[in-house]
Amino acid sequence: MPEEVLFAGKTFTVPDPRHTAVLPGQLGYEKRDLIRLLGEHLSPDFTVLDAYAGVGIGTYLYLRAGASCLAVEKDAEMFACLERNLRGERAVLREQDNRRTLEELLGRGAAFDVIDLDAPGDFHEQLAMSFRLMDSGYLWLTTCEYMHIQRNLNRSTLERRYGAGIEELYLTRDRYAFQEMVSRHVEAIGSTAGHEVQLVHHAIGRTAVRLLFSVDTTVPRGLTDELSARERYFGPRRTGQAPS
Ligand SMILES: C[S@@+](CC[C@H](N)C(=O)[O-])C[C@H]1O[C@@H](n2cnc3c(N)ncnc32)[C@H](O)[C@@H]1O
Repeated sequence: MPEEVLFAGKTFTVPDPRHTAVLPGQLGYEKRDLIRLLGEHLSPDFTVLDAYAGVGIGTYLYLRAGASCLAVEKDAEMFACLERNLRGERAVLREQDNRRTLEELLGRGAAFDVIDLDAPGDFHEQLAMSFRLMDSGYLWLTTCEYMHIQRNLNRSTLERRYGAGIEELYLTRDRYAFQEMVSRHVEAIGSTAGHEVQLVHHAIGRTAVRLLFSVDTTVPRGLTDELSARERYFGPRRTGQAPS
């Protein structure tokens, strides 16, 4: 049953009561705070492609920061919430698989300042296409692949993708080493598309990692200062594990 949650002074309809991403202490909550921070450091008319928009809470934060947004969501139930939540807002909403959207956008030479890949599952096709839609700006990536490592799944797929170093991660389950591996991978894909890509920030939850990359842009000093002052790990901390 859909229900309503209050976040950032606005009521959002969410598909079910297990939607915990607006609770402090969750990566989903932190993710939204990071969007807010980034928005404060961008010029007020920036453009965003929110490729995994969900119910639109992240999109709403971009809009509040002054952005024009294209928000894409493929699930009908989520999309119904998204439409309802962003009614009257300056956002274009698409109920579509984002791969089709990205193809269309590439076909007409569109470009965005921020691309948000808040991907629950596979994001690799979308990642490569996204780089072709950016002159410069910021790219967010969320990956839940760490969950595969924790559960000892998809080892050969991850090995093909990231190389033999993944073997050790299946043993150590080191979240920080995982984040570094993803980051090197994203930088390599970006460089294939002719971009200089640098990791700006990462936040790690129990199963997911959220990373912010700059793409051919200099990160404002104030943003770096604010981001580096923030804690990067959310969830139960193991003894001796320090945030990097
Ligand atoms: C983690 S949620 C997004 C949360 C949202 N960014 C927020 O901050 O509220 C991921 C969403 O991506 C959607 N999704 C997954 N694969 C997709 C695809 N290929 N195209 C479009 N949407 C997709 C899922 O249905 C889900 O609603």
